[in-house]
Amino acid sequence: MISANNLKPVIDKGLKFYIETYGCQMNVGDSEIVVSILTSDGYTHTENIEDADIILINTCSIRDNAEQRVWGRLREFSSYKKRRPSLIIGVIGCMAERLKERLIESDCGVDIVAGPDSYRTLPLLVNEAKSGGKGINVLLSREETYADISPVRLDRNGVSAFVSIMRGCNNMCSYCVVPYTRGGERSRNSDTIIAEVRDLIDKGYREVTLLGQNVNSYNYEGVTFAELMRRVASLSPLLRVRFATSHPKDLSDELLETMASFPNICKSIHLPAQSGSDTMLERMNRKYTRSWYLERIGAIRRYMPDCSISTDIIAGFCGETPEEHEATLSLMREVGYEFAYMFKYSEREGTKASRHMKDDIDDKVKTERLTEIINLQNELSLASNKRDIGKRFEVLIEGPSKRNPSELVGRNSQNKVCVFADTTHKPGDYVDVIVDDCSSATLLCHLAE
Ligand code: 5AD
Ligand code: SF4
Repeated sequence: MISANNLKPVIDKGLKFYIETYGCQMNVGDSEIVVSILTSDGYTHTENIEDADIILINTCSIRDNAEQRVWGRLREFSSYKKRRPSLIIGVIGCMAERLKERLIESDCGVDIVAGPDSYRTLPLLVNEAKSGGKGINVLLSREETYADISPVRLDRNGVSAFVSIMRGCNNMCSYCVVPYTRGGERSRNSDTIIAEVRDLIDKGYREVTLLGQNVNSYNYEGVTFAELMRRVASLSPLLRVRFATSHPKDLSDELLETMASFPNICKSIHLPAQSGSDTMLERMNRKYTRSWYLERIGAIRRYMPDCSISTDIIAGFCGETPEEHEATLSLMREVGYEFAYMFKYSEREGTKASRHMKDDIDDKVKTERLTEIINLQNELSLASNKRDIGKRFEVLIEGPSKRNPSELVGRNSQNKVCVFADTTHKPGDYVDVIVDDCSSATLLCHLAE
């Protein structure tokens, strides 16, 4: 067997590994890199945990509940290990970086701890574990982008793929653990990105999402994010291009102009606001004001009147007053977001907020505020979907509907889920649909003539 990545002959080590992924899309992309690295070293990927000699869990630290879920899984894995003592358990990703030896010292039978920049050393760490030791590498790097590694796609539909274009983050939002778990920002060589997307097109993929913690600050030897988008979108008119996530401070007119001028760049922007209050934005160290953010929303609408806009909101950050909370609700109404991810603030050790501010909002109040935010967003999503009734959209088909196999599911350019009765088309096809009805989450459509 020849390894795809380094053309070295690979010796089959006869061991099977299973990988489970939590957290953001970046983590999904990272798991694909890990599968590539380990298969190139002779291990076999299995999707059946019962079959595995090695279990890896790719973890998230963004909020305490994300970590609690992983601890729960680790306890289950350690009960497998009691039955099969040779089982190797590895924790990788953000929690590995944050907790380091603490994971090994837990009673969950953890053998390997690998941070997000150390995946190339996983074969060595596995060897260490095989010989009865513990494999730990949590070094962060200024350069690592895994640029030369061809990810092994773990998605099933063969239609859309994630392509990681940068790693780490320099923004230092006061609540956020990411700069500590993923290190500083670095952009991936643009030629390797183009080569990876070309390869995906050749394999029949129809959609790529360019990923990074802060994609729009991408800059590789003078190639800006807008320039990269132009290059990627020019590869094939049949390829849809999306990206996530953007920081409002880096949303340039050059990017908006580029998005507007390519029909295959999807008209959908995820632009996390976090809060609608200037005093709160200041405490969060977001580096923009409400009016500055609204000016950028205005710019999106000027360039692309049909662009959908989504956001992230945090409820109950340190010292949040009722007025600051109201300002968030009013921002949401003013923008009329299509979609939002909404969270209760969760203090993370080591961040600026945990060092210098007090997590002083009662959990009951956080929950009440979050509920208000979620209810408002449901109204806004429903209102936005209702405005689409009667409209015609091009949809990229992803697969059959889970509820009804005679229906297909896909997304329109605005990233809204469209469901329609159809038994003739297949995943990867583009079809035109007309919207008949909706819920707050889905457009119910029929095929256009
Ligand atoms: N508590 C709650 N939500 C957080 N996020 C980031 N850090 C925290 C935290 N400590 C949210 C932000 C970010 C999204 C990925 O997660 O909204 O945009
Ligand atoms: Fe979670 Fe953030 Fe790490 Fe992604 S980068 S896995 S969201 S902590």
